[in-house]
Amino acid sequence: MTASPPAWQRRAYSIDAMRGLAKRALPLPVFDFADGGAENEHTLQRNEAAFGGIELLPRPLTGSPARDLSLTLFGTPLSLPVIIGPTGLSGLFWPDGERATARAARKAGTAFCLSHGSVATLEDVAATGASPRWMQVFIYRDRGFTRELTERAQGSDYDALVLTIDNQLLGNRERDIRNGFAIPPRFGLSGLAGMALKAEWLWRMRRDIRRITFGNYVKPGETTDIRALAGRMASLLDPSMSWNDVDDLRKIWTGPLILKGILHPEEARQAVDHGIDGLIVSNHGGRQLDSAPATVDALPDIIAAVDGRIPVLMDGGIRRGSDVVKALAFGAKACLVGRPQLWGLAVAGEAGVAHMIEIYRREIDRVMGLCGLRNLADINRDILFNKSLERRR
Ligand code: FNR
Repeated sequence: MTASPPAWQRRAYSIDAMRGLAKRALPLPVFDFADGGAENEHTLQRNEAAFGGIELLPRPLTGSPARDLSLTLFGTPLSLPVIIGPTGLSGLFWPDGERATARAARKAGTAFCLSHGSVATLEDVAATGASPRWMQVFIYRDRGFTRELTERAQGSDYDALVLTIDNQLLGNRERDIRNGFAIPPRFGLSGLAGMALKAEWLWRMRRDIRRITFGNYVKPGETTDIRALAGRMASLLDPSMSWNDVDDLRKIWTGPLILKGILHPEEARQAVDHGIDGLIVSNHGGRQLDSAPATVDALPDIIAAVDGRIPVLMDGGIRRGSDVVKALAFGAKACLVGRPQLWGLAVAGEAGVAHMIEIYRREIDRVMGLCGLRNLADINRDILFNKSLERRR
């Protein structure tokens, strides 16, 4: 007899349902920190809405009894085309959140990308054996620090380096301003009242809450105070970074180098010329430039510009297996997810992230079955209904 799944799992029947459970579990400032976007949140909303306007054209008579969702990316097999994208401060959503997520990814057979702004250090995450593991960095005003983080990632055997290019200034996230979002959470009277309503989260985080910091930024013997570190991080951002810096990084990092935050087809073409190994079409989940296009709308022109020379991945608004299938139909090799992993973490830690990945796996499999697709190689523009293609050209 198989045991029935825990109650939370039955309630977390979709990514959106998981978001609802996370909202109930987290203090509002923490939920909004993940859920929110920049300014009017137009881009955030478009990322998701754009998928709704794309139709799939099924061919049921070409199906098979079982679908194969596996792929090879940068020479490494993955069990499904869904990768854990970099999200800072995952450790705020569940104790030791980064390592919990890394373990869930490894067990599910997919890649995990660690954010520069993780609570756990990149060395501690490597020690979980997460594989494949990618490390995300910025070009910092202090180029020496970019080099230092890169060398640490190399020393800890990270498989790929992800350079995020769309965080050269901090996005204007007004939910955070409205909520007075601060790290660590404030324990003033009103803050306490809000926290008390989320007693389970508070109890779970009781040991970690005061130790929340940007682990990779703490130097031996230096302060771990997150406010001081956040100030240092912000001062490290550099809007004057250029292709010269990318070239310098290319010289230091010998493994696959991936650019994240590409939206312009010309920049995609340049990336290939500069020896970049992969691209992530991304608008940072609508958290940076509001009014940037939805990523799935930007994807086709980038696919055309790259012309199959390097793999193109994408993220932003992937909430259904069908969204992944649509992105792959336009030519993406795989998708990354940001917020959904944090909702999974908030609901049940490692088990929640594992469940989130399985929701995508189940939904992709079902959509492929309904469309008559046997494996990922079968997914191409032929499965897109013409009208939705015309609207996008
Ligand atoms: C992010 N994202 C992000 N990206 C990055 O390159 N470095 C980072 O440190 C972070 N941090 C971060 C924190 C939080 C709370 C969120 C929600 C997102 C962006 C992330 O990698 C990804 O691009 C988007 O989240 C993708 O959109 P969805 O899946 O959240 O819609």
